[in-house]
Amino acid sequence: MIRETNPSSFGIFSKGVDVSNDELAFLIECEKAKAAHKILRQHKYFYSPLLKGYDETKGILVFEKIEAMEPLSCHMDAVWFHRAGELLALIHTRLHLPEEISIVRYEDKGRKGNVYVHGDFMPNNLCISKGRLVVFDWGVRPWISQVYTMASPVVDLAAFMAPWWVPLWWDFQFPLDKLNLFFQAYVKRAGVDDKTVNALKNELGRELIMHKIYHQKEIKKRPFWKRPLHQMKLVVNYLRTRHGIING
Ligand SMILES: Nc1ncnc2c1ncn2[C@@H]1O[C@H](COP(=O)(O)OP(=O)(O)OP(=O)(O)O)[C@@H](O)[C@H]1O
Ligand SMILES: [Mg+2]
Repeated sequence: MIRETNPSSFGIFSKGVDVSNDELAFLIECEKAKAAHKILRQHKYFYSPLLKGYDETKGILVFEKIEAMEPLSCHMDAVWFHRAGELLALIHTRLHLPEEISIVRYEDKGRKGNVYVHGDFMPNNLCISKGRLVVFDWGVRPWISQVYTMASPVVDLAAFMAPWWVPLWWDFQFPLDKLNLFFQAYVKRAGVDDKTVNALKNELGRELIMHKIYHQKEIKKRPFWKRPLHQMKLVVNYLRTRHGIING
């Protein structure tokens, strides 16, 4: 049975989560979604849908439906990239979870300045709806076996940047300047000082290598004739990110 946390008359969106092995990831998604909605519900530019109910035995989450979803695109106005940086900074500075699900990513144990992360802050887990930037999918990243909620902020920064490397097969656009704007807005709003920004860029560089390896593997699953072009786009845009943002 779905437990109704917030019954109301809005449209609903139901989502299934695999709970066959353990319920931890499900619990994390519930708690992050609830906390994020609380932080963003009154914001002029940002939003995260209300969790209206859940069933932890069946792994069902019921959210308020996001109306008129517009996906993010590299052609959209730069202001949305700026806002995405501000939104991420807001998440990293305001999100807090209960002690029992405050789990630090293995490689960040002992690192100073870990934050509660979104965990899968990819552009396709964001959209524009009714003039607001909406963030959803607070689950753990599907291609990572580790379950964690706290990590270096670069986990989310890299997740937002890397998917633009390989755009649609016919499209060579890569929004480098807009991604720079995203990064600068994040740094400013999160209060990262000049000294720390270089350390953050170094960490981001290492995180982006992991994403490059992931995308290289993914491209190998695509039709044979698409692969050379996609691999080329990936490498060129990865290098542009390094030169334009990490070393810029
Ligand atoms: N609250 C919502 N209202 C309307 N549509 C939604 C809502 N949440 C998610 N969606 C749509 O459903 C898709 C899948 O949802 P979500 O990203 O939360 O799940 P997922 O299982 O992690 O999927 P994926 O692996 O595609 O990221 C989203 O890309 C989005 O288009
Ligand atoms: Mg998703």
